Amino acid sequence: MRVLGIETSCDETAVAIVEAAVGRAPVGRILANVIYSQLAEHRRFGGVVPEIAARAHLERIDGVLADALSEAGLELGDLDGIAATGGPGLIGGVMVGVMTAKALAFAHDRPFLAVNHLEGHALTVRLTEQVAFPYLLLLASGGHCQLLTVRGPGDYTQLGTTIDDAAGECFDKTAKLLGLGFPGGPAIERLATDGDPQRFALPRPMWRKRGCDFSFSGLKTAVRQAVEKLPAGDKQAVADLCASFQRTVGDVLADRCTNALQLAPASTLVVAGGVAANVYLRGRLEKTASEHGARLVAPPVKLCTDNGAMIAWAGLERLRLGMTDVLDFRPRPRWPLDAMSKVST
Ligand code: KG4
Ligand code: ZN
Repeated sequence: MRVLGIETSCDETAVAIVEAAVGRAPVGRILANVIYSQLAEHRRFGGVVPEIAARAHLERIDGVLADALSEAGLELGDLDGIAATGGPGLIGGVMVGVMTAKALAFAHDRPFLAVNHLEGHALTVRLTEQVAFPYLLLLASGGHCQLLTVRGPGDYTQLGTTIDDAAGECFDKTAKLLGLGFPGGPAIERLATDGDPQRFALPRPMWRKRGCDFSFSGLKTAVRQAVEKLPAGDKQAVADLCASFQRTVGDVLADRCTNALQLAPASTLVVAGGVAANVYLRGRLEKTASEHGARLVAPPVKLCTDNGAMIAWAGLERLRLGMTDVLDFRPRPRWPLDAMSKVST
């Protein structure tokens, strides 16, 4: 079974093709995974501009699609399904991906699959490793930070979410304050390796509170105040602040996962989304999981940030279960994961 996946919900134009044996294949195989990043288009604005993103997706999508097919050595007729991110995300971009997928599905008489972007992150781990349902999921990206129980495609229970900013957004804002550019996560992780994680005592919002919700805005404010007091040109102080910030985020994520593992015990904790690319945070969460007799599983680093393979794989998992979508599916700017089964297309 081969599925093509299109991801256009933010600033990456991405197309991938994945394959898995029909039936209950343990893992899948990536036949092509092409990503065109719009970083250069948005850099001078200091963030993603929705109108520019939509136009850039429109300009690039045909070329990225052609590259993915040639990388896989396949033609459109060789595919069993066409998936695209149907939301949540910047709606102009989502429309470009959905319209492209619908046109391909219609022209080649193949099923169309509208994939929730968050479901793409949630299921990616099963593309590369044998992970059985149910599992506990920490989904931490630029736009989301939530804990969920994952029972299968379209079957999620949210245990907690952020009451203000997402974890990745907090990395990005901290990096911006330090003049490290966008996206902030990788830059902070790099500098943190030479820093002292104990030098700055930063607040840990929600730490030791009941439940599984997150909050990052207080941390962001404290970072701003610390940055204002930094001696000019002190590179070591910047590295120390990065390391202290990263440790603090680690403390918060570990604390929230501890509560989740107590409230909804699971043998597997999965961490996914862009922030899961952080090797230090993976280590922290690995320790938390093992303290509760669970194992931590994270997708390979390059599949943590947005890509087409995660959409193709979620599409394949849905196709296997006959969960296809109609061609009048409407792209959704908002689409909570735990409401998926309740929304009709
Ligand atoms: O999943 P993703 O690519 O896009 C969304 O769906 O939001 O996540 C992007 C986010 C950005 O905020 C970025 O700074 C963060 O993931 N990120 C990281 C790392 N790599 C990316 N955060 C911490 N450490 C990293 N190594
Ligand atoms: Zn994402």
